[in-house]
Amino acid sequence: MHPAIAIDGPAASGKSTVAKLIADRLGYTFINTGAMYRAVTWYMLEQGINPADTAAVLESLPSVPLSFGKDGSRSVVLYGQHVLGEELTSRQVNDHVSTIAAIPEVRALLVERQREYNRREPVVMEGRDIGTVVFPDTPFKYFVTASEEVRAARRAAEGLTDSIAERDRKDSSRATAPLAQAPDALLVDTSDMTIDQVVRFITDNIQQKL
Ligand code: C5P
Repeated sequence: MHPAIAIDGPAASGKSTVAKLIADRLGYTFINTGAMYRAVTWYMLEQGINPADTAAVLESLPSVPLSFGKDGSRSVVLYGQHVLGEELTSRQVNDHVSTIAAIPEVRALLVERQREYNRREPVVMEGRDIGTVVFPDTPFKYFVTASEEVRAARRAAEGLTDSIAERDRKDSSRATAPLAQAPDALLVDTSDMTIDQVVRFITDNIQQKL
């Protein structure tokens, strides 16, 4: 099995952007696991299911018509159709994704898919629990963060309404696979770094270890 590159961090830390660029540089496949949790959330809302009603979510979970493609953040397929950015980053999905992602059975289902990717091809995978839970044995772990002000400004610049502080609070405090830096992950504070500097820093570190 290829050693996966695990990139974790809070919302709007810029980790998706850098993970995609690192994957391009290395010729690896980029996997955005947030999109997977978002797709399940979108599906539940479409079905009229209240994300806080765990029993109802679990009842529908086996019928989620989900398959994941491999072209990055817009890689989620539902009903054979790509679910695009607007659906996955809508206000509704932002507000409920952390509730869905706290359900252990949802996580078990998606973590299994995530590991499957890496059995087929080398991946750069970004999320919240990639270094702690999905690939605990990989030597390539990065925890990408930025100050709350910088993250709020970055998110605002994208024109998205998203209460990232609230999502981070929920993601960090859940019982199963909370957002956390793995003890052996390298911390990368991007507050005062350009995207290019972050990409170069992480890629250099990976290449030193390869
Ligand atoms: O990365 P993104 O902000 O799109 O993730 C959306 C949400 O999906 C997170 O706030 C979190 O609740 C959930 N998530 C998770 N574990 C991951 C990736 C995302 O719980 N590995």
